[in-house]
Amino acid sequence: MRKRLLAANWKMHKTPQQAADFVHAFLPLVKNTDNEVVLCPAALSVAATVEALKGSNIAVGCQNIHWEKDGAYTGEISAEMIVASGCTHVIIGHSERRQYFGETDERVNKKLKFALEAGLTPIVCVGELLEEHEAGIADDVLRRQCSIAFRSISGAKAAKLVMAYEPVWAIGTGKTATPHIAASAHETIRQEAADALGRDVADKMRILYGGSVKPENAASLLDEPEVDGALVGGASLDPQSFAAIVNCVK
Ligand code: PGA
Repeated sequence: MRKRLLAANWKMHKTPQQAADFVHAFLPLVKNTDNEVVLCPAALSVAATVEALKGSNIAVGCQNIHWEKDGAYTGEISAEMIVASGCTHVIIGHSERRQYFGETDERVNKKLKFALEAGLTPIVCVGELLEEHEAGIADDVLRRQCSIAFRSISGAKAAKLVMAYEPVWAIGTGKTATPHIAASAHETIRQEAADALGRDVADKMRILYGGSVKPENAASLLDEPEVDGALVGGASLDPQSFAAIVNCVK
C-alpha cells in the first residue's frame, strides 16, 4: 500500500507572513490525517513556513532546484541550500518551468540526480500539452519525458522518487482529467519507471495527479487506485480548501 501524498504548490504566491498565517489556520484542520502532506512555498517563504510548522509532521518543499552543486548561477538555489533551509521535498520539471523558463527533459534529469543525491524527495512533473492530448500522443510524450528524466539513475537511488502527472491542459484551467485518463497515464509512467528503475521501485513509487484538483473532485480522483495523491495549485492557497482535499481520503 502506497502512502498518499498531498502536495501544495503555492507557485509565486504568499509572502513569509501569509505563509505563516496559512499554516496557523491549516494545522488544526488536518491534525487527524494519516496522509503525507507537504507545502511548497516560494523560496523566500520557506523559512517562515518551516518555522510555523515546527512540531507538526507536515513537510516543506521547494519549487525548483539547480542542477549543479554551486557556482555562478545568479538567482538559482542549490540542493544543499534546500536541505539546509529545512525542506525535504522538491518539485522538478513543473510545466510552468518547462514553458516559461526553458526547462528541458535533460535538465530535469540533471536536477533529479542532484535532488536524490541530497536525500530530498523529488516530485517530478510530467504531462502533455493540449495539442498533444488532442493529437492522441499523450502516451508518447509521457514516455519521452520519463525515459529522459530517469536516464542513468539506479533503482537503488530512486527509492524516494515521486512522480506527478500534470496534463498541461488541466493546470489552472478548471478542466480536470477524468480518473480514467489519470489512471491510464499513471500506468504509462509506472511502466516507464519499471523499465528504467526496476519493477520493485515502480510498484512502490507514488504517482500524484495534478491539474485543477479541488475539494469537489479530489475524492473521485483519489479513489482511483493508481492515483497516490495530488499536487494542488490554486485550491491549495486557501487553508480550508486544501484541508478539505487532504481530509477527503483517509
Ligand atoms: P492547479 O495547479 O491546481 O491550479 O491546476 C496544479 C499545478 O500546477 O501543480
